[in-house]
Amino acid sequence: MKRLEKLFAPIRIGTMDLKNRCAQAPMYINMSDRDGKLNDREIAYYVARAKGGFALLQVGVVSVDPQGKAFPNCPELSDDSYIPGWEKLARAVHAHGAKIAPQLQDAGNKVFPGLPGTRARGPSPLSYATSRILPTIAIDTPVAAEFTPEEINRLIEAYGDAAVRAREAGCDAVAIHGGHGYQLAQFMSPAENHRTDEWGGGIQGRLKFSLEVIKNIRRKVGNFPIIFRIVADEMIPGGLSLQEAQVMCWLLADAGVDCLDISRGSLFHSIHVTVPAIGEPPAQWVTENTWLIKQAVSIPTMAVGRITDPHVAEFLVDTGKCDLVAFGRSSLADPELPLKAAAGHFEDIIHCIGCDNHQGALIAERIRQNPEHAWIACAMNPETGHELDGAIMPRLAPAAAPKKVLVVGGGPGGLEAARVAALRGHHVTLCEKSDRLGGQFWIGSLPPGKQELTIGIKYLIAQARKAGAEIRLGQEVTPALVGKLRPDAVIIATGGDPFIPRDIPGIDKPHVFTASDVLAEKVRCGYRVVVLGANMVGCEVADWLGMRRKEVTLVKRRPGPAADIGEDIPMGSKAPLLDRLQQWKVKVITGLKDGVHIKGITDQEVVILRDSHEERLHCDSVVLALGTVPVAGLAGRLKGEVAEIHVIGDARQPGKVIHAIHEASKIARQL
Ligand SMILES: Cc1cc2nc3c(=O)[nH]c(=O)nc-3n(C[C@H](O)[C@H](O)[C@H](O)COP(=O)(O)OP(=O)(O)OC[C@H]3O[C@@H](n4cnc5c(N)ncnc54)[C@H](O)[C@@H]3O)c2cc1C
Ligand SMILES: Cc1cc2nc3c(=O)[nH]c(=O)nc-3n(C[C@H](O)[C@H](O)[C@H](O)COP(=O)(O)O)c2cc1C
Ligand code: SF4
Repeated sequence: MKRLEKLFAPIRIGTMDLKNRCAQAPMYINMSDRDGKLNDREIAYYVARAKGGFALLQVGVVSVDPQGKAFPNCPELSDDSYIPGWEKLARAVHAHGAKIAPQLQDAGNKVFPGLPGTRARGPSPLSYATSRILPTIAIDTPVAAEFTPEEINRLIEAYGDAAVRAREAGCDAVAIHGGHGYQLAQFMSPAENHRTDEWGGGIQGRLKFSLEVIKNIRRKVGNFPIIFRIVADEMIPGGLSLQEAQVMCWLLADAGVDCLDISRGSLFHSIHVTVPAIGEPPAQWVTENTWLIKQAVSIPTMAVGRITDPHVAEFLVDTGKCDLVAFGRSSLADPELPLKAAAGHFEDIIHCIGCDNHQGALIAERIRQNPEHAWIACAMNPETGHELDGAIMPRLAPAAAPKKVLVVGGGPGGLEAARVAALRGHHVTLCEKSDRLGGQFWIGSLPPGKQELTIGIKYLIAQARKAGAEIRLGQEVTPALVGKLRPDAVIIATGGDPFIPRDIPGIDKPHVFTASDVLAEKVRCGYRVVVLGANMVGCEVADWLGMRRKEVTLVKRRPGPAADIGEDIPMGSKAPLLDRLQQWKVKVITGLKDGVHIKGITDQEVVILRDSHEERLHCDSVVLALGTVPVAGLAGRLKGEVAEIHVIGDARQPGKVIHAIHEASKIARQL
């Protein structure tokens, strides 16, 4: 395997020396206290990444003004009371050789809806009520107040003052958030900046706010390093283009920026390119945008966007596409990615699989309902977000007394349980009744673009084996087998089966299939297919069938508009998937008032009541995507036979892979 020399070569950004080219991309993790103070839990999260070998840690969305807070629990540098927390963070990460840079930000018209003390303001009085990607947030978003020149000048000073505090606290640089539709990006964007004064108009006018921020920071902190994040292409109609961004980068470098961090997209309309969905080619725009910008400037450039494989990162640096690589989600999945890559332990890297389950922890509803506990999480790494203490996810420690542990089921839950229990010194046997590991997660990897999920399955299998778990395929666990094996503890990770509503007349006809059987190619659909159920699995199977040129009708049962399907699809994947459904001409059937009731299935039709009117949908095959039911009967049959029985994952309650893996990990850490 090639040694990664270029990725681990040192580099200088302004006056800051970095030990390697691996940066952590700025990410809001919602971990600070409500008043914007850093806390020990958050510091422990960054220390884990510092220990793991990242040379530069960027702390996402640090407010320079409390009126412009992007999220309830994001950190601040808006007055001197914040300095001690930053001092503590800087000292803690310096102890492990990493550098730290707060990403200074004002959210502009994208302040968190309803957050007390905030005020939406921007270059022009726009609102985001029409967001396609984040409708629940955007609907609440107020129309922004138009910034007066006095307010602009006040905010410019606030950026400079925050940079002074960062330097005083011992931080090593500041990163300026000039992207993703927040304040500075709004001013840069022709789509968002409709001003006719000196702060709008041509490139110089739209960039003026950012240039003045840079000047102010330089005036106040001298040659303190400045990193600037810009989006090279907003990917919205009339938004900032690559060509304009190139000129702006050239001007920013001239104004004294030390490093350009090249991102893409805008929060409410093109977040799927900012945080590229599973299935997007790795480093998709680095070779285009970052490299083109690198040609225009002589300062270092940083590339970001689905760079998950250290070899890809090495290639990008080695071939001069960029000077540094920022890892976003990959640093959530594995804080030790740089250390493992440098040591050549590639198989031990916890790969970010692009499942976007971390969003579930951060979604607006959760933050609103449970602000103190809605912080960052990662499906593949149960420890992310719990670095400080084991209150929620217990520490992985050797077992006091090794037990004989039987894990039933080789899906993600069972594999994680086996991995952790074996690591702790238990004697683990995992039995999977089929001839393949991965469970439903393997089926989940079959729709278009989702193959990366298999990397997660392979990681879990390899690590469970490496930890010493015995894995038996083709072995169904029955009470008789349990009686023979005589385990001390049984972990039931038997997953779920597709829900089949037996009360629908005709449901047992031979042309009615489950989505799982269709995706696994256990059955073949005819040309005209009706898919019942329009959540993630329904949309994905419709996509899979559309790609095979089938004529697909997708039926959503709950009331609501046709655009409102795939509620449980992560936001990054949703827009591209819905676009593909349009491309395949998938017909969506919904009822606005009462929804759609399925009356029955005949040999060639599905009979429905749409808003109480009967309709007949002609078809050759019917595919059921109506949810999952737990398979957990074994637990009852083992009662009294085994001392410890735990039911986890879909067998307990159907959910997503994050629930299965985290529950498994927690139980296995407590055995
Ligand atoms: C089409 C589809 C797409 C999906 N996409 C995603 C996605 O993108 N992101 C996401 O987070 N989640 C997704 N999911 C959900 C996710 O796959 C499940 O939540 C997850 O796999 C549940 O894990 P589990 O280990 O609890 O159970 P399962 O994955 O269901 O595994 C259970 C295993 O137990 C085995 N088993 C059952 N009974 C026995 C027995 N008696 N003896 C031995 N073995 C037994 C089964 O054969 C199976 O292999 C998707 C699901 C489907 C169906
Ligand atoms: C949970 C999460 C939070 C993010 N928060 C920020 C942020 O605060 N500031 C920012 O500039 N970008 C933010 N981003 C974008 C990332 O910095 C990065 O550009 C993007 O995720 C693409 O990199 P990746 O594919 O390696 O994750 C965030 C991304 C994620 C996944
Ligand atoms: S939850 Fe999924 S997408 Fe998010 S960081 Fe973890 S593996 Fe990556």
